[in-house]
Amino acid sequence: MCGIVGYIGKKQAAPILFRGLRRLEYRGYDSAGVAVMSLEHDSTRAHEHESTREREHVIKRVRAVGKIDELGKSLDKVELFGTVGIAHTRWATHGGVTEENTHPHIAMDGKLALVHNGIIENYRELRERLPAEVVLTSETDSEVLAHLIATYYEGDLRIAVEKALACVRGTYGIVVMHQDHPNLLVVARMGSPLVVGMGEGEYYIASDATPMLAYTKKCIFLDDGEVAEITPDSLDTYNLKDESVIKCVEEIDWDEAQAQKAGYENFMLKEIHDQPLVFQDAIRGRYNLSEGTSYLGGLNMTAEEMRRINRIVFIACGTASYATMIGKYAMERLAGIPVEVDVASEFRYRDPIIDENTLVFAVSQSGETADTLAALREAKRKGAFVRGIVNSVGSTIARETEGGSYIHAGPELAVASTKAYTNMVAIMLLYALQFGRLKRITLATGERLLNALDEIPEKMKQILSLSDQIKEIALKYKDYHDFLFLGRGINFPVALEGSHKLKEISYIHSEAYPAGEMKHGVNALLSPTCPVFAIMTKNQLYDKMCSNIEEVKARKSPVIALANIGDERVKELADDVIYIPKTMELLEPLLNTLPLQLFAYHTAVALGRDVDRPRNLAKSVTVE
Ligand code: M6R
Repeated sequence: MCGIVGYIGKKQAAPILFRGLRRLEYRGYDSAGVAVMSLEHDSTRAHEHESTREREHVIKRVRAVGKIDELGKSLDKVELFGTVGIAHTRWATHGGVTEENTHPHIAMDGKLALVHNGIIENYRELRERLPAEVVLTSETDSEVLAHLIATYYEGDLRIAVEKALACVRGTYGIVVMHQDHPNLLVVARMGSPLVVGMGEGEYYIASDATPMLAYTKKCIFLDDGEVAEITPDSLDTYNLKDESVIKCVEEIDWDEAQAQKAGYENFMLKEIHDQPLVFQDAIRGRYNLSEGTSYLGGLNMTAEEMRRINRIVFIACGTASYATMIGKYAMERLAGIPVEVDVASEFRYRDPIIDENTLVFAVSQSGETADTLAALREAKRKGAFVRGIVNSVGSTIARETEGGSYIHAGPELAVASTKAYTNMVAIMLLYALQFGRLKRITLATGERLLNALDEIPEKMKQILSLSDQIKEIALKYKDYHDFLFLGRGINFPVALEGSHKLKEISYIHSEAYPAGEMKHGVNALLSPTCPVFAIMTKNQLYDKMCSNIEEVKARKSPVIALANIGDERVKELADDVIYIPKTMELLEPLLNTLPLQLFAYHTAVALGRDVDRPRNLAKSVTVE
């Protein structure tokens, strides 16, 4: 939540910062701002001729409420020249969505500027420590931090930052600049991500690596409690005890092209269509057909340790948590290991039963979700094996787990997760196979699963070609106010995900239930004004699902069915049918989710929603 960008080097900073903000807009889009160190003529000597007047550095700031485009319009009206600058896109936490609350915040009459991602929990207490003459212009915790740094400033910006941060309770990723040090940025991190990209005589700073992909692939990831002093030619990192820290330079294997719309109207549609390709990236080189098994080396466990595992816990939030419910089915069926799925925000506040024979997977696209991170730390404290299934390279969850796998979905920028979900499912299937082959399933079963996995990309392409048909169905149903998504077995989590997608981007109320539960209460909702989306592909629960939908039909709810090609029976039950290719039951979510993504997408577009940036949400939920 909230994205920060910084640049220091030889190029004009403003265009780089603005472009960076566009890449980070998924982290928040309530308001945005930029500040650049600009060289101006001394205004107090305006009477002198321009050529003789001295020039001085001043911080110039532009802010705008609304999405990044609004900032773009404001930037078009001013000249913002300078090669050092900072920028921020905000998801409001403290204080309303106003220009005053928009970052960068300034202190010392505009001499110091700061952007901040995170929450300063004790900002009220810190406010009391500020000199009486300080007048706060916003309601934010971040502005208090800017003034606190200014209060400690005695000529050394990094020392002032360190002194101020020593008083702070909470989380932060910050970038600070000061007029007296025109070629310096000071950055610091505690709980909110910060990446520094390294160019030739220039550095890029951002909340994640996507803004810098166009310029460099070499990055360092700051760890909690680190502060760095950055000039165009140097980067020096310290811990909060002011000791020097040596950082490793890491290489990001994402491409700038992956972070673009590639001709699609928006990121969500592009990312839905990315799925056949990125699914291959997820599984490539990670299995061996002749041995009927998978090898995810990052697990970092010996065969003996794997055999010892008698319980697996998946922790995740939102869409990632629905993906883990599929992981549970796969792991229990293939490996016979009991699996618990826990929403991270609940896991961290109960007393989970975990020991050294428990394997905990933290599953996250961003790798920064605050609740998932806190839950994995709790599991580590309790002595479990903790591994990550993560998309964002170098993210906090990836760094804090003792192994795991990247899902290789590439940058996912639409707030609604699509391709990351699919690749999470793919990776969990591979883990289930790896454990399964070690524990109980035969070579033949392993081979069958891998062969079926190989066919998935082609089948995904077939499904994506149904986009126009799904659009027509979406147009027919777009004005309903309530939806039910029903599935059974492995398709119940698919129903949950379909329902989540629809409400998230179209704002239509919808719920998902295991179809067998309907009689226990939810049948009361059935009526001609409450359509039902039934996931009824042909698996072991197909007949039961048909009976459930008969009951829905009898209560006159319109039915949209997702069925396998060739299924004639379903036509009698449903008003509209989407036919898709068949696959093995365990792999069905890899296909069945795609039509639901398209249905949500077309409904949202038809209703005029901003699908990439739905209201009140941000992609990366870095606060509790
Ligand atoms: O980055 P994560 O996978 O940890 O994010 C978890 C959820 O916040 C996320 O899946 C959210 O529900 C998405 N907006 C769903 O589309």
